[in-house]
Formats: sequence, C-alpha cells, structure tokens
Amino acid sequence: MTNTLLILPGDGIGPEVMAEVSRIIDWFGDKRGLKFDVSEDLVGGAAYDVHGVPLADATMARAQEVDAVLLGAVGGPKYDNLDFSVKPERGLLRLRKEMDLFANLRPAQCFDALADFSSLKRDVVAGLDIMIVRELTSGIYFGEPRGIFEENGERVGINTQRYTESEIDRVARSAFELARKRGNKVCSMEKANVMESGILWREVVQRVHDADYPDVELSHMYADAGGMQLCRWPKQFDVIVTDNLFGDLLSDVAAMLTGSLGMLPSASLGAPMANGRPKALYEPVHGSAPDIAGQGKANPIACILSFAMALRYSFDQGEEATRLEQAVEKVLADGVRTADLMQSEGTTPASTAQMGDAILAALD
Ligand code: NAI
Ligand code: MG
Repeated sequence: MTNTLLILPGDGIGPEVMAEVSRIIDWFGDKRGLKFDVSEDLVGGAAYDVHGVPLADATMARAQEVDAVLLGAVGGPKYDNLDFSVKPERGLLRLRKEMDLFANLRPAQCFDALADFSSLKRDVVAGLDIMIVRELTSGIYFGEPRGIFEENGERVGINTQRYTESEIDRVARSAFELARKRGNKVCSMEKANVMESGILWREVVQRVHDADYPDVELSHMYADAGGMQLCRWPKQFDVIVTDNLFGDLLSDVAAMLTGSLGMLPSASLGAPMANGRPKALYEPVHGSAPDIAGQGKANPIACILSFAMALRYSFDQGEEATRLEQAVEKVLADGVRTADLMQSEGTTPASTAQMGDAILAALD
C-alpha cells in the first residue's frame, strides 16, 4: 500500500515547524525504507493570499483522497480584519467538516525530562501517556433547539445535548481501535446519573464493546469523577472516550498535566476509507504564534509528535512512531530546550532548526 500525505504548513510558525517535520519524513524514507508520497499545499492566510479563499477546492479534494493531512497552524494579525467567510480559521473548519472528522484525539504525554513543568507532583505525571478521544461533530454545541428566547417575561438561553446511537457507536469504535494500538484499555465518561444522553452513551459504548471489542478492557465513569481522577492519578487511564462538551474540558485539563503548548500534538479522525485507514488530520494544538514567527524560536516538537501520531494511527507504524517519540525523549533528557521549555534565563535556547537537528541525530 502506498502512503499518501498532504502537508499544509499554513501561517506564522506553521511553515517553520513543518520544515523540521519534512526533514524527519525524509529520514524515515532514507533510513527506514518508509516511503511517503507527499504533496504540499496552502491553507489559511497563505491560501487566501493566492486564491482569495482560505482553502481552495483542489486542496480540499486532495485532502479527501490522502491517508493523512498534516497541518501546521493558521491565522495571524495580517488577516484579523478579513470578512468572517474567508478568515484563515475557516480553512481548517472546512477540512474538519467536509472530512467529517468526528473523533478528536488529544494525547497527554509527559516526558520525564519535563515533569517539573507540570503543576502536579513529578510522581503523578512523569511518564504519563494517556489519550482523550472527544466526540467533535455533535452534542450540545450543535443540538437543536438552541438560542435565547423570551418566555414568561424573561429571557431563557437554551442549548440541547443530543446524541444518536450511530454517533456514539462510531466514536466508541475509534476509541476501541486506538486502545488496541496502545494499552488496550478504554474508560468512557458521561453523566448517566443525571442525563438521558449519558444513559444512551453508556449503553451504546458497552454494546459496541461486547459485540466487537471484548478483548479491550472497558470501564465507565461519571465525567466529574473523571476530572478528579485525572488530577489525582492520571496514569490509571489509557484511552478516555467522552462527548463534545466534557471532552473539551477534560482534554484541556489533561493537556496542562504536561506543560508547554509547544509539546502538544493532536489528531482528528473520521470514518474508515476504502483502504481501511480512517480519514485523518494531524496538527499541533498551538496556533501560528505571531509573537515569535519568523525568528526561528518555535518549538517543532508538537508538530513532530503529530507526525508520530500519523505513523501510529494512519500508517500502522507503531514501532516507528515509538522510535520518533523516543528520539524526542532522548533530546529532552540531554537538555536540549527551545525557549518555551526553559524555566530560567542564562543559557541560550535551541532554535527550531537546532531542535530538529538534535532529533535527527537522536534518530540516527
Ligand atoms: P498560539 O498558540 O499561536 O500562541 C500562544 C502562545 O504560545 C504565544 O506566546 C506563542 O508564542 C506560544 N507558542 C505557541 N506555539 C508555540 C511553539 N510551537 N513554540 C513556542 N512557543 C509557542 O495562540 P494565540 O496567540 O492565541 O493565537 C495566534 C494566532 O493563531 C491567531 O491568529 C489564532 O487565531 C491562531 N490559532 C490557530 C490555531 C490553529 O491553527 N489550529 C489554534 C489556535 C490559534
Ligand atoms: Mg477547549
């Protein structure tokens, strides 16, 4: 099977961090015989400058065909006053919507060397490696009715939590598939004690498990208790699957267990394609960081770890993904730091390219 990859560097530090990923992709081709058919295109402000839209139709069509899309970041002050319909973010939203990426994956992974960056004790977070799967296309952010209405002489604000069985079924499957490539454990979180959508959620997740994934260990937890457990002892979890609203909160909490924004990768997955691989978009959690763009200061690790996720979840190269993650770990253990990973002044931080050099050297 060929491995097809569409790279969309985007704006600000996007192209800077993506340049380091490109070198790593080449390394896997040269040294590990892992060949990728890579195409590169524009998204966000960069696409607007050329096409007058933040994502051209041809780019969208290509994104639908490839095994994985890898995106840098979009946006920046230059584009802040554009009409809403052509804002850089709309390019990203179009990708997510048209690819129907319903499962948002946010790992919380804490490298030993950075454990002191966490607000929690070293013991609690060192070596942490968990994955939150957030349902992304339904739930209370999309349910009808919604709005602010007049009722009995006062205003009432309404949002509706709504999940169909098929929406729960497909995100549960994504979580179980991921678990099989990791620690083989899923914890599903909802509030089945007070929400009917939670009762249905729990039922469907259990049913999918019993029918097709009995080998994966499944537990259920109320989402509020889950929040407590995430802060008390996060290492008890492997994969957490939850709805859009709870996932929004819990993934942000989990992210901060581990420290810098420059370290956080993510993925958004959709339905399996004809070749069995899911539709997939990989991107760092951070934005285009205009305050440091063009200065060679950006930390490329979030984007590099996003590529590691692509290796594991799109290309079935779990061992190669681990190889890349271990190279990152080694470089951090050796004390290589971009500016965002430094707690005190005094030493000179590594540049984006120097961090890339160090990771390539560790891979060798
Ligand atoms: P941001 O994530 O771009 O930056 C927040 C802070 O973190 C800044 O001080 C930045 O220098 C730092 N930072 C972020 N990534 C870093 C990295 N890799 N290495 C070192 N430091 C890093 O968020 P902000 O400032 O709110 O937004 C800036 C622009 O990015 C806006 O136009 C916003 O709309 C866009 N944005 C795009 C996103 C995306 O493409 N997915 C996500 C978030 C924001
Ligand atoms: Mg959020």
